[in-house]
Amino acid sequence: MAVPNQAVPTTVAGSVPAAFQVNDRLVELDLDPRESLLDVLRERLGMTGTKKGCDHGQCGACTVHIDGRRVVSCLTPAVQVRGTTVTTIEGVAGPDRELHPLQQAFIDNDALQCGYCTPGQIMSGLACIAEGHADTDDRAREYLSGNLCRCGAYEGIIAAVRGCSAQGTAEEVSG
Ligand code: FES
Ligand code: FES
Repeated sequence: MAVPNQAVPTTVAGSVPAAFQVNDRLVELDLDPRESLLDVLRERLGMTGTKKGCDHGQCGACTVHIDGRRVVSCLTPAVQVRGTTVTTIEGVAGPDRELHPLQQAFIDNDALQCGYCTPGQIMSGLACIAEGHADTDDRAREYLSGNLCRCGAYEGIIAAVRGCSAQGTAEEVSG
């Protein structure tokens, strides 16, 4: 006998209502307190630009900004972002989808191969410049050291971030 389809519950017992901004979008969700911000972005909001590498805070692929500060979203409980503005790689390009100068600099400097780490590198790169930590190659390397690249595109990544920093073209992204 056929088993009737069962409704998938839309809320989890113990879930918490939450409202926060993601780029230019106001999001209102019931969150399981165990959900990471990374999983909410990718699985519930369909925003797959932010990548899952290790899911353990080791690789930086999942880097986003919360109120302008970079975090690894795999270790950030989604409930913690209530009332904040989250900026992801999808919020970096301009209003007409023109590339941000740092995105263009990654292309110009061959700063990617497979591209899997690139969204996290760009989010960290933007923060690194805004923090004033991209004024020398050594400092840029140090402050981007939490972002791993399996393809070894580090030379181009540092060149892109340093070039953008020197030109003062990494204006704050507001989301
Ligand atoms: S996926 Fe978050 S640090 Fe690796
Ligand atoms: S470009 Fe492939 S992991 Fe960085």
